[in-house]
Amino acid sequence: MTDICRQKLAEAGGKKFGENSVSSLDAEQSIVYHGIGDICLFLRNCLHKNTVERRQGRVRKTMIRLTDVVKEYPNGTHALNGLSMEIQDGEFVFMVGPSGSGKSTVIKLLIGEIEPSAGRVMVNGFSLQNIREWQIPHMRRTVGVIFQDFRLIDHKTVYDNMVFAMRAVGAGPKEIKKRIPYCLNLVGLENKGRRLPSELSGGEQQRVAIARALLNNPDTIIADEPTGNLDPARSLEIMRLLERINALGTTVLVVTHEKDLVNRFDKRVVMLERGRVISDGKGWYGRKLQ
Ligand SMILES: Nc1ncnc2c1ncn2[C@@H]1O[C@H](COP(=O)(O)OP(=O)(O)OP(=O)(O)O)[C@@H](O)[C@H]1O
Ligand SMILES: [Mg+2]
Repeated sequence: MTDICRQKLAEAGGKKFGENSVSSLDAEQSIVYHGIGDICLFLRNCLHKNTVERRQGRVRKTMIRLTDVVKEYPNGTHALNGLSMEIQDGEFVFMVGPSGSGKSTVIKLLIGEIEPSAGRVMVNGFSLQNIREWQIPHMRRTVGVIFQDFRLIDHKTVYDNMVFAMRAVGAGPKEIKKRIPYCLNLVGLENKGRRLPSELSGGEQQRVAIARALLNNPDTIIADEPTGNLDPARSLEIMRLLERINALGTTVLVVTHEKDLVNRFDKRVVMLERGRVISDGKGWYGRKLQ
């Protein structure tokens, strides 16, 4: 490999992926690569290294950013009134607040179900104001969503529910065959793939919903009241599962009403009231904002 080629690789890596991801050592190691195909391989390795470092918490990145967001529904209800918050890569955050304070509205904005009336929303590096239509499926693949009412398809088995979710974002058969058993295993439902949702308990159905949210290996999991229909023991089990998923490197945002449950976990708690963040810190009452 020529010196020019080596220099170009170092420049490309340095510019594109930042100092943390491409060290001079990487540039040195790259000398074993030859030609255009190898340049691609080198860049892929840089990306992989960047992902590993990010997941190990060595590179901090903002995954969710809402800036001065206002949401007025068509009937004139002001659900959000200048809400700002950020969530960093690898964080586990509870969002709490009274009924009607705007929690689900935040979630709907983050998954692109509705648009803000004013302000900016950024999710996993995608600015939702400027997003191009072709980027939307890519953005959706980076976010796993868990709903309170599970949203499973009744007449499909657990396995087919998951196939459906993967096909919806364009996954191929090989990926589907590999990923579904892995995710069912993660939530402890490896033997329930052939069951219909109606043949499962509430807690099991919620675990299917979590497995489904994990299918596309999302950077961020967003859950709106994931334990709303469960008894306290099952709720704790589900939160512990989300905590384990977070420990594997996925950023987690959980909306919940359950004060006791939140207080059992030493996590960041963002509290909303009337469409604004009123406190942000550890524990239910967090740190009061001025
Ligand atoms: N589609 C809609 N059209 C009009 N108003 C809406 C709509 N969805 C929500 N709202 C209103 O916006 C405000 C915030 O609602 P949101 O669902 O975000 O609250 P929430 O914090 O999730 O409440 P809960 O804890 O009860 O789920 C409420 O006043 C609600 O009535
Ligand atoms: Mg809600």
